[in-house]
Amino acid sequence: MCGIVGYLGEKNTKEILLDGLKELEYRGYDSAGIAVLQNKTFSNYKAVGKLINLEEKTKDFTTKDFAVGIGHTRWATHGKPTELNAHPHVGENSYVVHNGIIENYVELKRSLEADGVKFLSQTDTEVIVHQFEKNLKIEKTAFEAFSKTISELEGAYAILLVTKSEDATIFFAKHGSPMLVGINQENEKYFASSDTPLIGHAKEVNYFEDGDYGFVSNDEIAIFSKDAKKQKPVFQAISTNRLSAQKDGYRFFMEKEIYEQSDVIADTLLGRLSEDAIHFDELDPAFFDGINEIKLCACGTSYHSALTASYMFERYAKIRCSVEIASEFRYREPLMCKDTLFVVISQSGETADTLETLKMAKKAGLKTLVVCNVDNSSMVRLADACILTRAGIEKGVASTKAFATQVTVFWMLSLYIAKLRDTMTSKKLAHQIFLLRGVPGSVKVTDTMHERIKRLSKRYLHGHGFFFIGRDVFFPLALEGALKLKEISYLHAEGYPSGEMKHGPIALADPELFTIALLPQHLLYEKSKSNVEELSARDSTICAISAIEFDKADDFIQINQCEDYMLEFFQMMVVVQLLSLEISVRLGNDVDMPRNLAKSVTVE
Ligand code: AGP
Repeated sequence: MCGIVGYLGEKNTKEILLDGLKELEYRGYDSAGIAVLQNKTFSNYKAVGKLINLEEKTKDFTTKDFAVGIGHTRWATHGKPTELNAHPHVGENSYVVHNGIIENYVELKRSLEADGVKFLSQTDTEVIVHQFEKNLKIEKTAFEAFSKTISELEGAYAILLVTKSEDATIFFAKHGSPMLVGINQENEKYFASSDTPLIGHAKEVNYFEDGDYGFVSNDEIAIFSKDAKKQKPVFQAISTNRLSAQKDGYRFFMEKEIYEQSDVIADTLLGRLSEDAIHFDELDPAFFDGINEIKLCACGTSYHSALTASYMFERYAKIRCSVEIASEFRYREPLMCKDTLFVVISQSGETADTLETLKMAKKAGLKTLVVCNVDNSSMVRLADACILTRAGIEKGVASTKAFATQVTVFWMLSLYIAKLRDTMTSKKLAHQIFLLRGVPGSVKVTDTMHERIKRLSKRYLHGHGFFFIGRDVFFPLALEGALKLKEISYLHAEGYPSGEMKHGPIALADPELFTIALLPQHLLYEKSKSNVEELSARDSTICAISAIEFDKADDFIQINQCEDYMLEFFQMMVVVQLLSLEISVRLGNDVDMPRNLAKSVTVE
């Protein structure tokens, strides 16, 4: 999830671009760059790391009088965060910035290289500018070349492109990644990924729809819909509060990140699913040769996604799988075998305990893989292989979209390994891929559901504790739900296997003990139901989450009927995330920065 800005006007283009990128740095800061075109001359600057490095590089560069410019702050999805991979990417006489993923970039790149095009970067984005310049040689105008280029792209994108052949124009296209254009009385034109950078500059904005493309010049804003029909811009007043703008109007970053899960999971899947196979460009299938066991190691929420993964690895890939809490694993003198693939999971890629276990595995000569959300982090740099979760920056300390994308990656990886080990029929694999495509839809938050949970939350502000209970993959989900609640409401909660309640904890059952029961229709429903009835018979206060009406609960949150337990998993994940959020709000806590916690625990 990157940040894009563009400007066309008479002011100091460099300053405007850098100020805009500063407002978008929360979207990603692996690297940043700008390109300014003035009097048919380009000035281009890029820097790795935070924006301050780009400011340093451009401190002696100023622009006055009319110019067009584009800028970008990167959150790596393809290619390491290096200066070469930083945007804007250049052709011969054009620059492009892009947010999203071009799914067919490999084919486009192969064809362009066959035409003799030399690529400088490892990114998918670079194909856009070369494809444009290829079309510029064929089409009559730059706009026709741009339109043709956009029609040849597959995937998600928000694109800005500037070229010497139309040096007073910015070309744009939007599909699947956000972008808007702003105007004011001084005839300036502003582009950005979200409205924050435009606050104080533009008076009105037009939010592009998927499929919109076109160009902006000094005297025209030309917007075309995907059926090539020209349409009138629809301008509306811009919000004025920067911080709420960064939260896009949500009350907290955590709330925003729960709502973002549908989009970021779609990004996680992009380019990795075909009809009958899973593709990880970043993995070499030979990497799994000789591997007979997978050991997963992590902390906190990442440990919960690892636990969830273990059920899928054994169920689908028929490979032995064990899961470790990193802080325990480091000190118990574990036996490590070379036929074990050691997998660490971390949103930040910096968690001290997890990082140390990765070092132990490498020292013991095991193959290592990291599933991580931050490219170029310590674990990504250390592991033999890496799968990025593409969740974008997660600002809420309580992890949500990182967990969701981790589980999505592990579902894909279990199928990928199943195919390598031939443990799943092609028919079943194709069906699993069909189910995976349903995940983004299953985590979309509806007003009805959110309102229901908001109302319900007032009943759970006291009591002597919560049990979240579930079976199979719903046990790690129960652990995750309990952790969310603890982290942001400071109420005590435990995740527990449903079948274990009768081995002691049921002694706690009374009306002041709240049980959040996960009752999936498609996995051990009857077993889970009888566990809940045991609690209900002892007057525990029960909130059941299920697709099936359940009359023995005090509260009931209904999820949508679906055809597989993993889609129930993702729906229930959203419910427990929202429940903890709304209870915390009612208790008046700081949802995004709960007491005693840090986003990344880089100390032991
Ligand atoms: C989860 O909500 C917490 N923020 C915490 O448990 C976190 O998952 C844990 O510290 C691990 O962090 P990591 O994923 O960055 O390694």
